[in-house]
Amino acid sequence: MGSQGTVRSGRAALLRAALLAPLLLQLCGASCPEKELEDREEEANVVLTGTVDEIINVDPVHHTYSCKVRVWRYLKGKSNVNRQILLDGGNKVMIGGFGNPRICDNQVSTGDTRIFFLNSAPEAVGPEHKNELMLNSSLMRITLRNLEDVEHCVEGEREGTEGNGGFCCCQTEGGGS
Ligand SMILES: *[C@@H]1O[C@H](CO)[C@@H](O)[C@H](O)[C@H]1NC(C)=O
Repeated sequence: MGSQGTVRSGRAALLRAALLAPLLLQLCGASCPEKELEDREEEANVVLTGTVDEIINVDPVHHTYSCKVRVWRYLKGKSNVNRQILLDGGNKVMIGGFGNPRICDNQVSTGDTRIFFLNSAPEAVGPEHKNELMLNSSLMRITLRNLEDVEHCVEGEREGTEGNGGFCCCQTEGGGS
């Protein structure tokens, strides 16, 4: 009778919800407020794709660490990476600031490939980070969509166009829209 149909459609709804929820969380960063991609791109003076080669300088108290990262491609700011930062013949860089609690997605493992939003280390973080780039906002997975979104932001900024925020996904503060 009717009850069986209800059970079935209830189950289908549950399944749909179970499939959609993580997708929405991932898209909109609802679990951790994140600035819009456009702002994240503007704040970072270097954006690159790379693979984590080695994890070093783990701080036992603050649980922060640095990584040696093999660079595949600069999406922004190649000229901001000076020679002291480059390692192993120029295709690796040292990146600090993993585990920074001000950054939502701040954890990597060896072998992970990500888009990194970076800045040169400010004087304040001390001499041990002098020749490092610092993680400036959340790590991003490499998908065609993500690469295109970041490239749109970089191009938009270069051309000085206003209001290209539409390209930059729905990572609004508080996870809205
Ligand atoms: C990211 O860089 C901006 C400057 O462009 C700075 O104001 C901000 O504090 C940095 N964020 C983190 C988490 O270091």
